[in-house]
Amino acid sequence: MPEPIETLARRLRRQAAWCAELGSPLYSSLLESAADDLQLEGPVWGVLAGFEEEQGGAALALRLMGAVHRLVLDDTLPELARHYPSTGGGGDAGAAWAVFRQALVDHRTRIRELLASSCQTNEVGRSAALLGGFLEVAHRTGLPLRILEIGASAGLNLRWDRYRYESSEGAWGDATSPVRFTHSFDVPPPMNRSADVVARMGCDLEPIDPTSTEGALILRSFIWADQLARMALLDGAIEIAAGMPFEIERVDAGAFLERELARPVRGTATVVYHSVFIQYVPAIGRQRIQAAIEGAQRTAPHGAPVHYLRMEPGQSAEARFEIRLDDELVGTSLAHGTSVRWLP
Ligand SMILES: C[S@@+](CC[C@H](N)C(=O)[O-])C[C@H]1O[C@@H](n2cnc3c(N)ncnc32)[C@H](O)[C@@H]1O
Repeated sequence: MPEPIETLARRLRRQAAWCAELGSPLYSSLLESAADDLQLEGPVWGVLAGFEEEQGGAALALRLMGAVHRLVLDDTLPELARHYPSTGGGGDAGAAWAVFRQALVDHRTRIRELLASSCQTNEVGRSAALLGGFLEVAHRTGLPLRILEIGASAGLNLRWDRYRYESSEGAWGDATSPVRFTHSFDVPPPMNRSADVVARMGCDLEPIDPTSTEGALILRSFIWADQLARMALLDGAIEIAAGMPFEIERVDAGAFLERELARPVRGTATVVYHSVFIQYVPAIGRQRIQAAIEGAQRTAPHGAPVHYLRMEPGQSAEARFEIRLDDELVGTSLAHGTSVRWLP
């Protein structure tokens, strides 16, 4: 078997396993079938050939699923739509596969075009994983928050304070919010804390406007088609975004932080944060981000502290994501911000 095909097949199967673990039997099965087809040099190879040069972290398998889902959502693939739950279908992966495979033949050029864009999942659920970090900074400093998100995509997690979080031990946020997290916490963070966001900014290399038709289509296309609860959270977040629009700046994270952190704002605690972002940044870019944050923390004037919050894949075999605040591991969660376990 040629090496590029083996590399790609491994990536599809790894993603299939993650999809199974994260509750998407449809995507898990379609990706397994796609890996089999790839190894037979079928239409999947026709679509993916050339992409084997990418880093594994570029999430090619999710971009493939997102590209096809987009064509389902925009009515290009009505037959596949009959199988996809996001368009009212039954989710039968066996029946969907033949139609999926044919779509790769019929729409090869368009799908390859879509594959050229980066993975554009903006997962609202990650706000539940980050919540405890924001509340902790507000609690420790007693200051209102200035939040700076890098790799913000459509900025949905920049509006985390407009969402409602419910747990067995308390709740936080607007009870009438169209975004309600009711099953996100195994061990919740302390919720009896107030936090006031007074400034919010974000950047992304490929920002999405969630209030535009095209932006909403991109965001929906990256939700796994049989995960309707995630789709509902996204729709709620888009509704909130329409009522409080702001722009995500199209600029590299390092440049954004160097500029923004050079302007401390007295009387606020700045929280620099990101989620499922750092894997997309090359080593040199990571160093630049790190240097900007460490420099700002070192030189922060009195009354303008800088904190660093992130939720990124952990190192353990358990496949849990780690939530870190400054140097401290403060919690873990699954990739989409569910099963949050806050540490004492
Ligand atoms: C998988 S998405 C995650 C989006 C969001 N943080 C979330 O958790 O839902 C990663 C985002 O990082 C952005 N990105 C990658 N490299 C970047 C860079 N150097 N500067 C700014 N954004 C970047 C991508 O465009 C993409 O929108």
